[in-house]
Order: sequence, then C-alpha cells, then structure tokens
Amino acid sequence: MQERDQENVEIARERVKEIQAEFAGRGDSLGWFEAFYKEAAGDIEKIPWADLQPNRFFKTWAERVGLDGKGRKALVVGCGLGDDARYLDELGFDVCAFDISATAIEWAKRLSEGRNIQYETMDLFEPVRSWLGAFDFVLEIYTIQPLPLEIRPKVIDAVANFVKDGGELVVVTRGREDDEEAAQVPWPLSRRDLSRFEANGLKQTHFEVMPGDEDPPIPRFLVVYG
Ligand SMILES: C[S@@+](CC[C@H](N)C(=O)[O-])C[C@H]1O[C@@H](n2cnc3c(N)ncnc32)[C@H](O)[C@@H]1O
Repeated sequence: MQERDQENVEIARERVKEIQAEFAGRGDSLGWFEAFYKEAAGDIEKIPWADLQPNRFFKTWAERVGLDGKGRKALVVGCGLGDDARYLDELGFDVCAFDISATAIEWAKRLSEGRNIQYETMDLFEPVRSWLGAFDFVLEIYTIQPLPLEIRPKVIDAVANFVKDGGELVVVTRGREDDEEAAQVPWPLSRRDLSRFEANGLKQTHFEVMPGDEDPPIPRFLVVYG
C-alpha cells in the first residue's frame, strides 16, 4: 500500500474519539469497535490503524532479530484487518488471530484469501479454553491502549494467559511515563502498567522506545517477554 494520507488518518482518529465517547457514555467500552468497522463500510481509509502492511515498529524488531516462525504457533490479539497476521504467516508461523469485531474478521479473511490463517471472532475476555497457554508466540499491537484504564490489569492478564510456558510475547503500544496522565483514547501504557505482565509470570527480555510519526511524536514501546 502507498503511504497513508495523513489528513484522512487524522479524520479517522477523531472519529475514533467520538464513537468511543458515545459508547462509553452508555457504559459500553467494547461495542464501539464493531460499530466503527461497520461504519467504515469496507473503506480502509476510515480505519486509522490499518495499513495493509505490517506494523512498522514490529517489523523493524522482527527483521533485526531475524524472527523465524518455522514450527511455531502464533496468536495475534485484536488482529483488526490482519496486517500482522499475514506478516507472521509470511515468516513461517502457524497463525491464529482473533478480534471482537465480526466485521473486522470478515474483512481480514477477505484480505487473507489463499493463506492458511485461522481467524476467529472472539472477545479477549471470553477466550476458547483450548487457546489458553497454547501459543509459542503471542503478538499484541494496540489492543490494550483503547480499552479503559480501569480494566487495564484485567486486559493484560487476558493477553498473558495465551502464552505457553516458555513461549514469547511481543507488545507494541503507545508509551507514557509512569507519572504522566493518559488524557484521551488511545490511553498509552506506562512501564508500571506493563509490569502486570511480570506479575503473570512473564519475564521482560527486551524494552525499546521508538519515536512515533505524529506531530508531536508519541513514543512507541516495543516490549518482549519470554
Ligand atoms: C486499535 S485496533 C488495532 C488493530 C490491530 N492490532 C492493528 O494494529 O492493526 C484494536 C483492535 O482490538 C480489537 N479489540 C478491542 N477489544 C477487544 C476484545 N475485548 N477482544 C478482542 N478484540 C478486541 C478491536 O476490534 C480492534 O480491531
């Protein structure tokens, strides 16, 4: 895909804030995702996080470490349109991916035709039992940050639960300092927020800060747990 039109991305981000606030006002923190994908009606320009290419922060890391999926089972959490699921497929992983939005999953399936990726519509908080502790490699990009801060520990626990003993987890997220306020959706993660993964028995093996491309740039944290 060509570079995204930044003006369209900004318009789409503003719509995210509006629709999230609209649903939150009714006490619903999850319903806006499906409504948002439906409203986009197949127009990728309306989805600010969809690039039709792998997340660039993750790809930089994956290329640097020579990430190889041969013989490994991977799970993509909150996969959206499947950009990163397709990348893991290309790296040789056996890939499962899920999202709470049925519309996103249908869209991801269309974009992944001919590939052997298992897509499921599933809520992170109601996982199929057979997926718990089942994956050698779990990838979480930008799913924790749009969910409310009050449930952040619960979200992190749910993500950690998919990692097999001895497996690996990679998290890519907007980052903030521990003493910095998270003002609006998406609420960046702090190092303190991330420490919850370690409370789940995972060990942080790599932590990296990369500059975002917004103006002013919002840092991205890329964190690896083993
Ligand atoms: C900001 S988008 C990021 C999508 C994708 N990871 C990417 O980077 O392109 C967050 C995604 O998480 C999904 N999501 C939010 N809450 C979820 C939940 N409870 N269970 C599963 N998916 C969820 C949304 O539908 C959305 O596709």
